[in-house]
Amino acid sequence: MQITPLSGALGAEITGVDLANLDAATGAAIKDAFHEHLVLVFPDQDVPPAAQVSFTELFGPVEPHPLKTRATVDGFPHVLIIENKPGKPGAPNDYWHSDISHAEMPPAVSVLHALKIPGDGRGDTMFCNMVKAFDGLSETLRDTLTGMRALHSGQATYKRSLGHSDARRINPDEVKPPRAHPVVRTHPETGRAALFVNPHFTISLEDMTAEESKPVLDVLYAAATKHENIYRHKWRVGDVLMWDNRAAMHYACYDYDDTMPRKLHRTTAGGDVPV
Ligand code: SIN
Repeated sequence: MQITPLSGALGAEITGVDLANLDAATGAAIKDAFHEHLVLVFPDQDVPPAAQVSFTELFGPVEPHPLKTRATVDGFPHVLIIENKPGKPGAPNDYWHSDISHAEMPPAVSVLHALKIPGDGRGDTMFCNMVKAFDGLSETLRDTLTGMRALHSGQATYKRSLGHSDARRINPDEVKPPRAHPVVRTHPETGRAALFVNPHFTISLEDMTAEESKPVLDVLYAAATKHENIYRHKWRVGDVLMWDNRAAMHYACYDYDDTMPRKLHRTTAGGDVPV
């Protein structure tokens, strides 16, 4: 197994492994690399849905999307289909976010397997490192944020479901009230502190108005998404890419239209209550 870092911020490419046939030692080595790099890319993988579920299970219990917004693979209710095709533009994910951060136990790990990719360099996905973002703040701001909480809401997913044909229309009653999580969370496996707010699901700091919260949150988002803190992935068919929602945000570039087919299978490993 060879590990090649992909940027100074986060991400590594792993070659010399077959994710559909992993032994325990290789699985453990992948976990170590994942904790170090937060985003791993495995090129040229042949991973049928059952194998993708088994691989994802190494990182936690495989979960469906709580709002069931996407179609799933026949016979595999936990494998979501992210698809853009003629007449059916895919619901965009062109916003920085950590998956489903409004859940009580937001997912730990997400895994995508690329099946169709627009051929001309479109449809990249970007990732940023929330550990480095936190470490780069002044000590005073780090101390101020530690112990604060922010409110996360699923309203954004509901609103998106109104406008896009590949996403199931959500009933507003299915969206739970906003949930508070620590602004700075401790990674359950590495013990590292990371910012845990995102511009898509975080609506305010706890006990502050949205207006009062905005300048603080904007400072954190600017620190998280500065160019040096980003890895931008250019997809190839066969790539399997996984990221750590506890320590990274991601943004899917929406620079394609429905004439440019794009299809990925997504699985998610469950996480803990952030502390
Ligand atoms: C996602 O945000 O889960 C999907 C990312 C992508 O489509 O590249």
